Amino acid sequence: MDQATFIERYYTERTGTNSLKWDLVEERFESRDLLPLWVADMDFKVADAITAEFKKRIDHSVYGYTFVPESYYEAYNQWMTTRFNFPIEKDWLRFTPGIVQALYYFMHIYTEPADAVAILTPVYYPFHNAVKDTGRKLVTVELINEANEFSIDFKAFEQAIIDQEVKVFIHCSPHNPAGRVWTEAELIRLFDICQKYDVLVISDEIHQDFTYGDVRHIPSATVANGQYRDMIITANSASKSFNLAALAHSNIVITNPVLRELYDQFAKTMIQTEANLFGVMATEAAYRDGAEWLETVKTIIFNNYETAKAKLTESLPNVTISPLQGTYLMFINLNPVLKGHNIVEFMQTRCGVAVDYGEWFGEGYEGYIRLNLATKPELVDQAIDAIIREAKKI
Ligand SMILES: Cc1ncc(COP(=O)(O)O)c(C=O)c1O
Repeated sequence: MDQATFIERYYTERTGTNSLKWDLVEERFESRDLLPLWVADMDFKVADAITAEFKKRIDHSVYGYTFVPESYYEAYNQWMTTRFNFPIEKDWLRFTPGIVQALYYFMHIYTEPADAVAILTPVYYPFHNAVKDTGRKLVTVELINEANEFSIDFKAFEQAIIDQEVKVFIHCSPHNPAGRVWTEAELIRLFDICQKYDVLVISDEIHQDFTYGDVRHIPSATVANGQYRDMIITANSASKSFNLAALAHSNIVITNPVLRELYDQFAKTMIQTEANLFGVMATEAAYRDGAEWLETVKTIIFNNYETAKAKLTESLPNVTISPLQGTYLMFINLNPVLKGHNIVEFMQTRCGVAVDYGEWFGEGYEGYIRLNLATKPELVDQAIDAIIREAKKI
């Protein structure tokens, strides 16, 4: 389907639907009438296959206890095998109501209070929170940032592991907000270090389906023919890829039986909920029949990125933008045009746009913004035009 037809059919107003992004913008940003390009969900209706499944179920209108059917495992396995060469055995799989929730579980399962947990910053802020909120010691290792192109400082990573006696590393792959899709060579270096010091890797791959051009996402558990997989726990879902965040369903893949047993022991005392019916149905339908919808969404996102980048580069050449290899989030350093002006005042009062601020992701990222590209082009244009217009006034 072409982009215009897709937008006509799937873009929808969300105000008044209890949308966090649209309806809580005033509460979160203490400011009215902002164009919301912050939290990472999309302004598009889901793929028809998902809606059709829901309609059938609603016609039936019984929502008693359910189980995850074989067809779910088949659809998930098929998706992971054909797209990522990562066949998933049923036994390896657990379900959680979201990946952030899983991160909190993992802290309790795989670490003791005060154990050190490493993250590569700037990174998705719930990574910081999961470690701090559970009373673990947060170890931040800064990514190397060369004009907004990010890479891993392996020396600093290794040193931090040694110095702080790191037990667990929470990895973001693809990386939010850096937009990086890690290469196999990078992943091998990273996991070699983790292996050397017996560090467990929690690999959050929620953005796995968003890669562009020739860039390929490599699941951590498949790196070097699966050489590291037993020290890795993978978390992914259809929630980002198919706009299902509120259905609270994600996949946890644990290939190592010892780690799985630890998970199950914890689950026995702490998690007694079954997977959510609608989350399971939607995920299965998405993996089975959602590929075409996803491809068009990715085209729209990447076109939004290219247009925004071209406009910014032409009008504000000093502004730097992270290359969008993965995710649907554009990370921009506005410091060169802010000239010391406050970023919140600039974005909200002057531009009228709600974004995620760089400092939410890591220290030293004041003046950076993360812009959500998963919406119709006019809205991204509106935000970029406002940034250019207001920057020129400074
Ligand atoms: C890296 C990463 N992990 C997890 C999430 C959220 O996952 P969930 O809604 O399943 O808790 C996001 C959402 O933006 C994310 O970017």
